[in-house]
Amino acid sequence: PVSPLIAPSLLAADFSRLGEEVEAIAAAGADWLHLDIMDGHFVPNISFGPVVVKALRKRTTIPFDVHLMIAPADPYLAAFAEAGADLISLHPEAGPHLHRSLQTIRALGKKAGVVLNPATPVEAVAHVLDLTDLILVMSVNPGFGGQSFIESQLSKIAALRRMIDATGRHIHLQVDGGVTAKTARSCIEAGADVLVAGTAVFGQTDYAAAIAAIRGAAA
Ligand code: DX5
Ligand code: ZN
Repeated sequence: PVSPLIAPSLLAADFSRLGEEVEAIAAAGADWLHLDIMDGHFVPNISFGPVVVKALRKRTTIPFDVHLMIAPADPYLAAFAEAGADLISLHPEAGPHLHRSLQTIRALGKKAGVVLNPATPVEAVAHVLDLTDLILVMSVNPGFGGQSFIESQLSKIAALRRMIDATGRHIHLQVDGGVTAKTARSCIEAGADVLVAGTAVFGQTDYAAAIAAIRGAAA
């Protein structure tokens, strides 16, 4: 197994000090910053929008991995691109035309991701792989940090790894939800190469040690 990229989720940070948190996580060795966008409609929680993403963009150069949990997503793709997202991921259920949404993200010059909820089958992404830079497997139901890892998603990660390898394309396989140093190992063994972690990083006092513990779970 390869050493995974670690994308700490800002959702578990101290929202009264977001700029400092972003600087601290970059200094602690985060590969990407995962930004969870929630609308209180697609998921039962509200987080923050493009104004906050744009403000944080000034604080660090690490890639911004924007996870949209909003419906419809299409009207906001340009705003997140302009705010400084490097990757923009959305759920197939968030609009009627996933293929067109991915084309839009690519046309904005950003990397495009497809997010699969725990009950969403791998087939949802099978016919758009040529437009996909990242597949995100949700290992919790989206909406909240601090939930328990859903083990049944490991076989989905393995199936997606086979699907990606068969294309010969470079597509990241990311896991989000309940990732800890303990659950990270099985994610990596199943074929994931990017791990999102909220509570397991921002919930700890030593961010660098927390990131290193998850990254080292592969060894
Ligand atoms: C959940 C979000 C996750 C969340 C993960 O809807 O997509 O990114 O922040 O938090 P933990 O790592 O605490 O499960
Ligand atoms: Zn997320």
